[in-house]
Amino acid sequence: MTASRGAPGGDALRAWYDLLHRRIDDVALDEAAARVGLPSGIGRWNLLDDATLQTLVARVLPKRAGRVLDIGCGRGFLGRWLLANGYDFSYVGLDRSPNALAAAARNCPKGRYLLREAADLPDETFDAVAIIESVHPLDESLARAVARRLSQGGGVLLAFPSLESERARRVDASVAAFVAAGLEVERVRVACPPGAEGARGYLDVLLELCREDSDSPLAREIRRAVDCLDGGLLGYDAFVARGTARE
Ligand SMILES: C[S@@+](CC[C@H](N)C(=O)[O-])C[C@H]1O[C@@H](n2cnc3c(N)ncnc32)[C@H](O)[C@@H]1O
Repeated sequence: MTASRGAPGGDALRAWYDLLHRRIDDVALDEAAARVGLPSGIGRWNLLDDATLQTLVARVLPKRAGRVLDIGCGRGFLGRWLLANGYDFSYVGLDRSPNALAAAARNCPKGRYLLREAADLPDETFDAVAIIESVHPLDESLARAVARRLSQGGGVLLAFPSLESERARRVDASVAAFVAAGLEVERVRVACPPGAEGARGYLDVLLELCREDSDSPLAREIRRAVDCLDGGLLGYDAFVARGTARE
């Protein structure tokens, strides 16, 4: 694993994710996914259905091969998924959580892992950049940084859930960020949106996993997410963006 270059510390969310990645094991996480109807995939920390993921990956890696950067790779779910689906790829996973990267290195040993912030992308070129439920909505500076690292014909895929009350604003902001970065955006239809029920089921399972520690920041944060869901439906959006033909 490559050490961080200037990742800011003291960020509550960062600490929360790291704690979460330490507490939850891959098998339990996989069972949680299966119980709410998401396909098995050890290391999954997302609500993205397989059919939509297949569409997204096929758009950015049409030759079923290439160099992949996974921003906020978590436990290496995408690397494992690409392996399981017969892709020929190199994989760089970047995350701010050391515990996530330790799990990713076990789950997808062929990967190279970078402990750093999304704002600190490696100086390399990639055929596909994935941002799955990690940095959302997308902001302009990250979109520009990603665009600079795409190979000719390369593409970026972005997928994230939103409360319905915030969804339009988050979608508009992400599309505007891609456009400002000079990328053409395609919104991809989500085959099986998780809906509030699916997300609720997933969060309930996570709460169960940390029941011995119900006062931990992790448990409190999950309960807060459940309360938010009670206040509104959950939508899910997915995009592919690539350089324009004139570039
Ligand atoms: C919900 S998990 C998704 C993980 C993975 N993409 C997946 O689909 O299983 C979000 C991950 O993004 C990481 N993350 C969030 N914001 C980040 C940032 N600004 N820089 C680096 N990693 C970030 C978190 O540490 C966490 O591991």
